[in-house]
Amino acid sequence: MSELPVVRAIDDLRSAIAAARRAGRRIAFVPTMGALHEGHLRLLDRAAAEADFVVLSIFVNPLQFAPHEDLARYPRDLARDQALAATRGTHLLFAPPVETMYPTGAETRVVPGPTADHWEGAVRPGHFTGVLTVVLKLFQLVQPDVAIFGQKDAQQVALVQRMVRDFDVPVRIVVAPTVREADGLALSSRNAFLSAAERGQALVLSRALQAAQARFAAGERRAAPLHEIMAAVFATEPSVHVDYLSVVDPLSFAPVDAVSGDTLIAVAARVGQTRLLDNLVLGPGVS
Ligand code: PAJ
Repeated sequence: MSELPVVRAIDDLRSAIAAARRAGRRIAFVPTMGALHEGHLRLLDRAAAEADFVVLSIFVNPLQFAPHEDLARYPRDLARDQALAATRGTHLLFAPPVETMYPTGAETRVVPGPTADHWEGAVRPGHFTGVLTVVLKLFQLVQPDVAIFGQKDAQQVALVQRMVRDFDVPVRIVVAPTVREADGLALSSRNAFLSAAERGQALVLSRALQAAQARFAAGERRAAPLHEIMAAVFATEPSVHVDYLSVVDPLSFAPVDAVSGDTLIAVAARVGQTRLLDNLVLGPGVS
């Protein structure tokens, strides 16, 4: 297997992309913060199915971490990530240093609207400003035809789609399903922080979602009982601290009273020092 080329400088990225364009190749882009797992790798598979030149970025974006969050301890292993991405059809890895993405004097920000008022946006003020700012900058640098994001971060991808519409960014956004461990735990780079005991406790997130889904399949459409059943599952794991448990509209993220069209149920919870997210879409065609 040939080694996956890594570029760190913007000029090198632009010339590699220009060469691919001259060769008539369509570009698919997968932005990540590294510590790659099967969830990320499936996004790369999807990218390879959508276009013929796959660009992966790995950048732990300081702008989306609050001072008390886990920026310093976020897992980083570029050599491992490079080897993994090479096995999944990636053509170019962009891994810029912080000074390249945010040179002295860089100050402009992309600030989301009310879609960021709920959930992660409420718990992590400023987080989505950091996400959208780096994603727009990466889109400007890579200029992809298509970009792949995970449903795992449902609010993030909704805000990216909103930004693309609001700013007429010429990219198509594809949303890929959440990849899980066999026991239901959604894959996350942060799962590496969990102790063996916490790894067991973390299953409460997917168990709560599955319980709500089962109740939905049995005919329940009201949000309050769905919410209650999830809260009851969380009550079995009292050491896990719930940040939010929501039954919301998948576009606006406003809470709903009943499931009518597609409805998103989402949870965020802290297991020890580690914050985990999960979500599920319920809808007329889903059971
Ligand atoms: P990161 O957490 O590394 O995730 C990169 C991409 O992988 C996101 O689109 C995320 O939704 C997707 N992903 C993560 N876990 C997944 C899983 N279990 N199944 C499917 N997809 C999964 O999200 C970010 O980085 C950053 O905020 C970023 C967009 C790169 C901006 O800095």
